[in-house]
Amino acid sequence: MKMLTASDVEGAGPRLVLGKGDRLTPLARDRAKELGVELVRADEPVTAGAGRTSAVPAALIAPAAVRAVSAPVQAVQTPSAGSRFVLPPSGVMYRRNALGPGFTAMGPKHRPKAAVVGAGHVGAMTALRLAESNLFSSVALVDVVPGLAAGLALDIWHGAGLYGFSTTLEGSDDLAVLSGADYIVITAGKARQPGMSRTDLTAINAAIIEGVCKAIRIHAPESTVVVVTNPLEEMTHLAARYTGFADERVIGMAGVLDTARFCSLVALTGQAKPQEVRALALGSHGPEMVIPLSQAFVRDKPIESVLDAETLKGIVERTRESGGEVVKLLQKGSAYFSPAESAATMVHAMVLDSGDVLAACVRSRMAFGVRDTRVGLPVRLGPRGAKEIVTLALRSDEQRALQAAAARIGVRIDALDKPT
Ligand code: 2OP
Repeated sequence: MKMLTASDVEGAGPRLVLGKGDRLTPLARDRAKELGVELVRADEPVTAGAGRTSAVPAALIAPAAVRAVSAPVQAVQTPSAGSRFVLPPSGVMYRRNALGPGFTAMGPKHRPKAAVVGAGHVGAMTALRLAESNLFSSVALVDVVPGLAAGLALDIWHGAGLYGFSTTLEGSDDLAVLSGADYIVITAGKARQPGMSRTDLTAINAAIIEGVCKAIRIHAPESTVVVVTNPLEEMTHLAARYTGFADERVIGMAGVLDTARFCSLVALTGQAKPQEVRALALGSHGPEMVIPLSQAFVRDKPIESVLDAETLKGIVERTRESGGEVVKLLQKGSAYFSPAESAATMVHAMVLDSGDVLAACVRSRMAFGVRDTRVGLPVRLGPRGAKEIVTLALRSDEQRALQAAAARIGVRIDALDKPT
């Protein structure tokens, strides 16, 4: 059995004989179609009228012993197309042996399905981290750019043996690949450039979120959605609107990222490792971020007994600005390793029903006395999304800061709802 490649087709003349069990790469299929090369298999009867090559069903995409065409050759029977070949629209990117947008590698099917919309750096990294966890039967990656998601899905699959996962991967430029997904991470949208605020992205990303969420409503009506696209609170609100899902099934990823940044910046003081710091970044994913120090601990000691007020103030400020700090350094695009890890952490917590309290952007419904809007709050996640908002004993100044944050977010979100 041999894999026939585009070169074999190009060198075969008008007809290419496939030996028993021979297979073709999708690129070879496409080249045969382009060049009008007839694909026949030596061990099948030729049926009168067998037309020129047009397709080999996927089952025949296999290596072949290419033989000189001397003996009477037989057209390969394709179940649906009789003796003719009908090349399925492979849509394959014209790279050597690239697989088509519907590339799927077999893997166990008894676990939930995850999907990531947007195959930019954040989306691709999120897809990898979800696949690596082996918590999902499959991870689907979709992007509007033809071939991008398929290529990256194939690339991740190539490493499956090294990563040690058995997750099935799919990549496509068709949102229908979301079908049946249980968890969907939305990273699609423009990223900030230097000098831009997240709010500058509102108009362009709102349109993207609308299209994506209307498709989610059709293809994955039972899914839980984690929004990463900025401006985060506004996009989470729009995702809830356009999916029409219950509030608990539409959550925004920001607090996990901002909390991680705070912990890693505390670790820079040398007092502890990042994982020995506990905190919660609430409020907004931006200027209205609120990190209640009464809820922050270093090796289980209250943080204010470990670091002085001036140092802590600087760390909180730098945490607020960390996204912009990375954008400025990169000069093109924004952070992706820690945002991806944060989104994956939220999905893992839901699948595992860990009961962890994480900071997530949810509908507040007056919790902490804040106005009803989308704001970062302490949340316990469960298999379907936000199980409960966890009440913390915040100091009065922290509570006021959170209420002020929600008020300012609410103004921005109300503006989205105003008829244009
Ligand atoms: C960040 O803060 C991209 O919003 C993301 O890096």
